[in-house]
Amino acid sequence: MGVARRVANRLRNGWGRIRPVPRPRYATGTPKTGSDHPLDPFFPPNIETLATAASSNEAANFVLSVIERLSPSEETANQRVYYLWAQDKFGVHWRNADITTLLWAASILVRPANYLEIGVRRGRSAAVVGAAQPDCAIYGFDLWVAGYGGDDNPGPDFVRNELRAVGHRGSVEMASGNSRVTVLAFVQRHPELYFDLITVDGDHSVAGAAADLANVLPKLKVGGVIVCDDVAVPSVKRVWEKIVKRDSRYVSWEFTSGGYGVGAAIRITDEPALAARRLV
Ligand SMILES: C[S@@+](CC[C@H](N)C(=O)[O-])C[C@H]1O[C@@H](n2cnc3c(N)ncnc32)[C@H](O)[C@@H]1O
Repeated sequence: MGVARRVANRLRNGWGRIRPVPRPRYATGTPKTGSDHPLDPFFPPNIETLATAASSNEAANFVLSVIERLSPSEETANQRVYYLWAQDKFGVHWRNADITTLLWAASILVRPANYLEIGVRRGRSAAVVGAAQPDCAIYGFDLWVAGYGGDDNPGPDFVRNELRAVGHRGSVEMASGNSRVTVLAFVQRHPELYFDLITVDGDHSVAGAAADLANVLPKLKVGGVIVCDDVAVPSVKRVWEKIVKRDSRYVSWEFTSGGYGVGAAIRITDEPALAARRLV
């Protein structure tokens, strides 16, 4: 590589590290998870509980049962082989987490009524939530980039059918287009809507991931869970650390021993915690 190209790369990488990214604009008075029902009070899991559930064999087995009901794809076929092989080889000692096991864990621990997902593709991750919480309302956002990850990316009707196939019966709303535009427009149209569970797994560029997190995080209930895939990818890692990990509204956890890693955080306060972390 020539000197000029090397200098240009260094400048680009340096700028990438210091470049300002969009930040969430929080408002006070964020609602909490749970409901008015006496048997459903505000009582979020702690992060260790979420992490333990996400890395359990029960999570992997649930995901396997969902994958079996989805239309075949190379990604889910590989995932199935990987899980079965690891379970056979490592037995009860196997520990693994990915976007799908984390979503199962969040779904059974938080029992979301409203789920927002950026980056739906063929509906695999949404299907885990839909199968674990069949009445949950699902709001999906995708640009349906053709051939993303080597598989077909057939669009919203395909995803609706996949959700039905795993037993989901709640409402489904899908928005097509660049999430930087569609999500912002959606949250502005629905100021009353807050989410118990949110996934960001769309545009993996610094600017794209930051915009997605900035647009959705103010809509996450206190006690709710944010899941972000691929947090070991440098662009996503930078954004995740800056916007979520270093913000005292959240306690976070990452699993980076497999694939490109996955992160999750529980929102523990409405406003940034001033002193010790606490559940409010
Ligand atoms: C990694 S896939 C999502 C996988 C899915 N969450 C799962 O676990 O099966 C990423 C998806 O994000 C979509 N995407 C990429 N850039 C986007 C953008 N700027 N706006 C909306 N969707 C985008 C792609 O079309 C693709 O379907």
